[in-house]
This record gives sequence, structure tokens and C-alpha cells, in this order.
Amino acid sequence: MSDGRAEILKADGLYHVYDSKAEDGNVVALRGLHVSVYEGEAVAVVGPSGSGKSTLLKCLGGLMKPSAGGVELAGSRMTRLTGTELVNLRQNTVSFIFQDANLLPHMNALDNVAQPLLHQYVLPGVARAKAQALLDRLGMGERSRGMPEELSGGEQQRVAIARALITNPKLILADEPTGALDPITSREVLEIFDTLHREEDVSFFLVTHNREVAAFCERSLELRDGRFVAQHGTDVNIADLSGSRELIIDDTGTVTLPPDVLTKIGGPGRFELPGIERDSLNLERVDVERLQVEGKANLILAENCPACFHVYGDSEEQRCPDCGSSRPMVQA
Ligand SMILES: Nc1ncnc2c1ncn2[C@@H]1O[C@H](COP(=O)(O)OP(=O)(O)OP(=O)(O)O)[C@@H](O)[C@H]1O
Ligand SMILES: [Mg+2]
Repeated sequence: MSDGRAEILKADGLYHVYDSKAEDGNVVALRGLHVSVYEGEAVAVVGPSGSGKSTLLKCLGGLMKPSAGGVELAGSRMTRLTGTELVNLRQNTVSFIFQDANLLPHMNALDNVAQPLLHQYVLPGVARAKAQALLDRLGMGERSRGMPEELSGGEQQRVAIARALITNPKLILADEPTGALDPITSREVLEIFDTLHREEDVSFFLVTHNREVAAFCERSLELRDGRFVAQHGTDVNIADLSGSRELIIDDTGTVTLPPDVLTKIGGPGRFELPGIERDSLNLERVDVERLQVEGKANLILAENCPACFHVYGDSEEQRCPDCGSSRPMVQA
């Protein structure tokens, strides 16, 4: 859905390797990912545990430096920025929401929400007024003096959302934002996202195991072992991803098959491409049996050496005894 909109988030050839002292060596968590999120778009990342979702989110949000590849946030190459430049870009563009609210335990809800503005040297009175307005909006107005430990999981998450919104981010990165919530509270959180998305054009890039959260997004990217294997539309069913898959061929020409598709076509191997056309590609497994049997049936060892014309006669030799050339196979 680019329709001329700018990319709020873009990553090229993103790799991440975790160093490990364990015997089985380093973990390659991301293997050359390309990501584009357009302004106002909501994109989900779905995939099994350990597929690299959190690693991807941390690299995209500048919380972790990828081992290779670049990330652009609102047109600025984040991987080139350092120190205050990076902090400023992040503060003005992107906010994080994690699975656990991660509130500062010694501050009440209001001060937790106001905190990011205080970091930007906004006057405390102004910051607190804005924090209160956001908490009101999220149905938490009367709990604003509550300490985190006095709030339920859903209330804490709403405070975390208010804290994420106070800087007016253009993009929200969220790692399983409803993962720790009951179904009713997660629906409430989703409604808040939906309003922000529709009314304020906020972009979302979120990791989820929740079907409704994925359905809220315009598209979902399926991550497996650090590679995107498919994209899904709003009809995605997280419990059965096979029904809505579109394979992705990236601009390096790389395509990765989902494991169940690989099993269905009979496992790895070599494939012919009969009838390549624009917008269409058929794969047909190279019939190893056929090639070997037919090929071998018609080929015999050459009678003469092609280099020095040595005559092999009845010999089965594979190499010419006179000049050392290897003995070719020829059509019978
Ligand atoms: N700090 C770390 N050191 C070493 N390996 C790590 C580290 N963090 C993650 N990994 C490994 O990197 C891979 C991707 O991990 P990641 O946390 O990104 O997965 P995930 O998709 O978010 O999983 P989950 O759904 O369980 O949250 C896994 O194999 C994981 O074991
Ligand atoms: Mg994770």
C-alpha cells in the first residue's frame, strides 16, 4: 500500500549474530531481512518462538546495533547516527511498548507517563498536564496517582501505552503488547491502537501471537529462523498460516520456503523453471532418475583421447596414459 507515501521505517540486508561462548557457537538470529513500513501502515510480525522477532524489533528501534545492514527511521540512516543524534531521532519518531509494562516502580502512573517529556526538558507542569490528559483518554484518569504495584496488568499496560504516546510518535514498535493481558483487556488495548491508527495515522510494527492483533494490521510478515518466509493479509489465521501465504522474493532474488511448503513439495532438491513468464514462475523438480538413466544409457567412454588421439581400445581407463587428459563420455 505504498501509494506514494514515504517509508517511516526501512531496513536493508539486516543480519544479527549473537556471540556465544557455548560449544555450538554463535546464533545467527537475523539472516538478511528487508523491511519497509509506510507512513500510516500497521504491520505485524508473526512466527514461532526463537525465530528472531524480538531481535528484529530491537534492531529496528535502535536498541541494538545489527551485525550488518542499515535501518532508516523517517528517512534518517539510524545505523550511522551516534549518541545524542540517535537519541533525538528516536525520541521524536518512535516509541516502544513491551510485553511487560516496564514501569518505573518508584513513580506513580502520572510521573511514569510524563517521564519521556521530562527527558526532553519540557516543564514538569506541562508534562504532567499532558500525561493526565492521555491517562484520561485511556480510561485511567482516576488511577493516575496509583503506584505500578497497585495497578492490574491491564492498567499497567495502559499506562505504558500512555507513556509511549506522550511524545506523539509517528511509529510504535511493540513486542507482544497484549501477551500478558487477558482477552478483554487485550481487546481494549487493540481498540486504542485502532483509534490511533485510523485517527492519527500512527504507524505500527508489532510482534504478536494474537490473532486479533494480527488481523488489525494491514499485513503480517511470517518470520522463520531469521528469514521472512511469507506475507499475509488481514485474513491471517495465526493458528494456521498456510491458508493466506504469499511468498516473498526480495530484491536480491532470494526466496525462502516455509518449512511445511518444503515438506509438501518433497523436500530440498533442484528444480527446473519451465515457461518463465513475467509475474509467474513454475518449479518442477529435476527428475534425477530420468536424467541418470537416460543420460547414462546413451553415453559411453570415448574411444580416442581428444587431446593426443591415443586409442583406448577395450581399456576402461579414465585417464589417457600418454598425455594425462581425462577420458570423456560421448554419445554412443
Ligand atoms: N542475548 C542473546 N544471546 C544469545 N542468543 C540470543 C540472545 N537473545 C536471543 N538469542 C537467540 O536468538 C534467536 C532469536 O531470539 P528472539 O528473542 O529474537 O526470538 P523471538 O522470535 O522473539 O522468540 P519469542 O517468541 O520466544 O519471544 C533465538 O535462537 C535465541 O535463542
Ligand atoms: Mg520475543
